[in-house]
Amino acid sequence: MKKRFYITTPIYYPSAKPHLGNAYCTVLCDVFARYKRMRGFETYFLTGTDEHGMKIEKNAKAVNKLPQEFVDEMVEQFKKLWTLLDISNDDYIRTTEERHTKVVQQIFSKLLEKGDIYLGEYEGWYCKECEAFWTETQVGKEHLCPDCHRSVEKAKEEAYFYKASKYVDFILDLYKNNPKFLTPESRKNEMINTFIKPGLGDLCVSRTSFTWGVPVKERDKHVVYVWLDALTNYISALGYLSDDDSLFKKYWLDEESEIIHCLGADITRFHAIYWPMFLNSLNIRMPDREFVHGLLLMKDEKMSKSKGNVVDPFPLVEKYGVDTVRYYLVREINFGSDGSFTPQQFVERVNADLVNSFGNLLNRTLGMINKYFDGVVPIFKSGVTEFDKPLEEFVTHTIKSYETLFDDLKITDAFACVNELVNKGNKYIDDTAPWALAKDENKKEQLASVMSHLVNVIYVSAILYQPVLVQASKLALDQLNVPFDLRDYNNIYNFGCVGGGKIEKGQPLFPRLDVDLEVSYIQDLMNKNN
Ligand code: MSP
Repeated sequence: MKKRFYITTPIYYPSAKPHLGNAYCTVLCDVFARYKRMRGFETYFLTGTDEHGMKIEKNAKAVNKLPQEFVDEMVEQFKKLWTLLDISNDDYIRTTEERHTKVVQQIFSKLLEKGDIYLGEYEGWYCKECEAFWTETQVGKEHLCPDCHRSVEKAKEEAYFYKASKYVDFILDLYKNNPKFLTPESRKNEMINTFIKPGLGDLCVSRTSFTWGVPVKERDKHVVYVWLDALTNYISALGYLSDDDSLFKKYWLDEESEIIHCLGADITRFHAIYWPMFLNSLNIRMPDREFVHGLLLMKDEKMSKSKGNVVDPFPLVEKYGVDTVRYYLVREINFGSDGSFTPQQFVERVNADLVNSFGNLLNRTLGMINKYFDGVVPIFKSGVTEFDKPLEEFVTHTIKSYETLFDDLKITDAFACVNELVNKGNKYIDDTAPWALAKDENKKEQLASVMSHLVNVIYVSAILYQPVLVQASKLALDQLNVPFDLRDYNNIYNFGCVGGGKIEKGQPLFPRLDVDLEVSYIQDLMNKNN
């Protein structure tokens, strides 16, 4: 297994405030990054904003602002949201920063010198919304953008082109030789059938119709196409082609580093076709994996700023807390598939998994230890009651599955496993009936065993939940008074290691949500926003 880990989110358009759909990908990546750190990997996690392009120029103009002023304000909103959601990114790259624009220009020059970029004239179907040119086949008879389904128009301009056609076989080989490069598998077929088989033309990589972009040094009435500009962030942020390229060497060039891009389904084409091509032109190694997550839908439509159907994450987090929103996003929407946001599901998921399962297990256990053992956690002993061994085996099985699933990016399933363990803990209380054991002086040993098993199940669950429940896990470990040296991941293999300490007074991890009340509160929030 590799030693290092580099994970990136796409960089977001700061054309409006961030919405819950944007938060989705960032939270997923944060959960991965935290998981990897917890497992002892040197981890670097990058996010940022994609600040150039016609759309930003237009949006700024509409509110009488200069583009730079406009993006500066929006970027604050993104950063504020990431702080609110406890996102643990190591860097934040903005494409308007000089450390980035300089690299974009150098890359452009390199590709020009190599002959992979040439000057020509472009005529094609242009989608203003996506800032993308499409071929006749792609827009079909109705002339609709295959991505956003809006009308496209014929456009012509002097432009630079990237010789994408030269690298088609390279992409097909890349997919063939690296089955995990692009997942889920269905995305690979989509790339091949929708874009490669119909014939991939050269890609137009400069624009002259607007100015808000990185100027092409060689001909400065052109600005670099926003996607060539944007994709470069993944390496410019690490210092590629800059005086200090130590991070680039460490996290990109070194074979010991695993590189993962996480992205939404709507931008697969750019990441899975053009980005590997650009890297290949630059003679740089490929990322190891590109994981395409599904979209967060609202009434079956993609939640998006331009459709105006977004859920504002700020009031949601402020009212329900960081962990509930993070958990909902990761657990409810199966990683890799689309999923709808509904207030009902949000409230029900929180109540089921966090309040009734995890919170309840902790609360019941703390209450019983206070009542039966004056708050002192009994020392662990294995196999005292008939239910002990099966529970211990289940813990081992859970840890194994959790790691396998997580390593395979099956994040939703990994947390479903933890949830099952917590449910097993609650069931173990019902099976062993500690209230009955407490009535019998001769059953003191059994009662002690039950308590220490419960504490250790909660301890393992809290550690496994750490990447997503950043606050509640800590609170649970604090309440159980788990010593700091035992909070290191590797100790969880040693089941029963927690014991002998005095617990803290319990305070519920998650308040129970009143379904009707909260559903209508969230619905109001959604209506206010749209
Ligand atoms: N700027 C480009 C990405 C450049 S990466 C080199 C872009 N920006 S975006 O703001 O429109 O989208 C950024 C990410 O947010 C994409 O991965 C997109 O799929 C994701 N999402 C936008 N709306 C979303 C949902 N409703 N649900 C889940 N993810 C969504 O594209």
